[in-house]
Amino acid sequence: MKQEQIHTLIEAAETQLQFSYAPYSHFKVGAALLAQNGSVYTGCNIENAAYAPSNCAERTAFFKAVSEGVREFQAICILGGPDGKLGSLTPPCGVCRQVMMEFCDPEKFKIILGTGKGNYVVYTLKELMPQGFGPGNLKD
Ligand code: THU
Repeated sequence: MKQEQIHTLIEAAETQLQFSYAPYSHFKVGAALLAQNGSVYTGCNIENAAYAPSNCAERTAFFKAVSEGVREFQAICILGGPDGKLGSLTPPCGVCRQVMMEFCDPEKFKIILGTGKGNYVVYTLKELMPQGFGPGNLKD
């Protein structure tokens, strides 16, 4: 991926931090998902008083895209921290990795974790979800 493209995603994810609804954990997360067609879908975490219905930033972004008919993706950038302070990397939870497995090629899909434009690491989904279960496993 081009550095310029990565910087655009980092900026978009950072912008999402202001919309994070995290009154329980106070841990704010922003995500920016780059579709194959070049569109960017953003997301933030949305918590709930009943806890379990809470949604991560990554899944918010994926569900926004899929609900608009977009199912092919290149990369996602995820940033987060306590009260939105970006001190360390925020890796995706297991549920979000599984959602990525549904729509992304694990060898190609990139997951960008960072604390800002000057500090980020790029992983493939396969690196973060080795031996993951996906749609291909249901085929004979
Ligand atoms: N969270 C995300 O939104 N994405 C991640 O990658 C990790 C965790 C959210 C869920 C919850 O609202 C808060 O961060 C603390 O777990």
